[in-house]
Amino acid sequence: MAKPKVFVSRVVPESGLKMLYEACDVEVWPGDLPPPRKTLLEKVRDVDGLLSLLTDKVDDELLDAAPKLRVVANLAVGFDNIDVDACTRRGVLCGNTPGVLTETTADFAFALLMSAARRVVEGDRYTREGKWLTWGPLLLLGQDVHHSTLGLVGLGRIGSEMAKRAKGFSMRVIYYDMFRREDLEQSMGITFADLDTVIREADFLSIHTPLTPETRHLMNAERFKMMKKTAILINSARGPIVDTMALNDALRSGTIAGAGLDVTDPEPIPMDHPLVGAPNCVIAPHIASASVVTRSKMSEIAAGNIINGLRGETMPAPLNQDKVTGRRK
Ligand code: DGY
Repeated sequence: MAKPKVFVSRVVPESGLKMLYEACDVEVWPGDLPPPRKTLLEKVRDVDGLLSLLTDKVDDELLDAAPKLRVVANLAVGFDNIDVDACTRRGVLCGNTPGVLTETTADFAFALLMSAARRVVEGDRYTREGKWLTWGPLLLLGQDVHHSTLGLVGLGRIGSEMAKRAKGFSMRVIYYDMFRREDLEQSMGITFADLDTVIREADFLSIHTPLTPETRHLMNAERFKMMKKTAILINSARGPIVDTMALNDALRSGTIAGAGLDVTDPEPIPMDHPLVGAPNCVIAPHIASASVVTRSKMSEIAAGNIINGLRGETMPAPLNQDKVTGRRK
């Protein structure tokens, strides 16, 4: 019997690819950049499965172009690039890669927090530019992390791992989430507060919420004004949750002290974007989950989602399998 056809929209770690090669007829897009939209639409024309990245928009247009498509597996926990409802309406299964990247992503979010607080990147640049002439009592003074307040917007998997790390630095942790987690409040010694209070009281405000119509520009000019002047914003979730121009203004006017970003809007951020030159803003190229082990695990889950989905078996990380087939998570 012919193997099902699968398009993989970028080279992903070997372990997942190996699983796919054994079970499917696979084409991998070899470029470092995503396939252009027109090419992607051509590539999915006769495939049964698509291993997508967060740079591929899976919407009605793509689904129209892919009449045989049965499974879309996103190599990410976030899936705001996929119109899951549109997939469900057409009986297309969707999956993501939760769990395996939680701690890796929290490690990186905390690294951004430390870098922005203690001006690590500025210090490195200063040294390499030959500006380090002597020990300076006022040189590159930053904000203390220990015993400060971490405000979390979102206490899902990554948010709670962030809280765990903060506790190791003797930080007070407050959080806002639509779902209150009294169990974690008890076990971790953290406190629930409304969003405005979290924003007002945080020395470090870290975003850990998915991008939805409700969270788009959650951090806007008005909310930056509510933050402490010494506060630092950390975003490792999705760029559009923060109004980038409002952040740029807040950094330049001294409304807040700094930012650590793994995600931007737009992404990648153009070199002539004002935020690129903003003071004390650490910008990483969306790499919070980028450890060797984690990316391999993500590729295995994505491959498993495709293989099991195509076989009619339970997917390792389904998003709509219950709705499409009645099979429960
Ligand atoms: C995700 O998984 O959603 C990240 O943004 C990429 O790892």
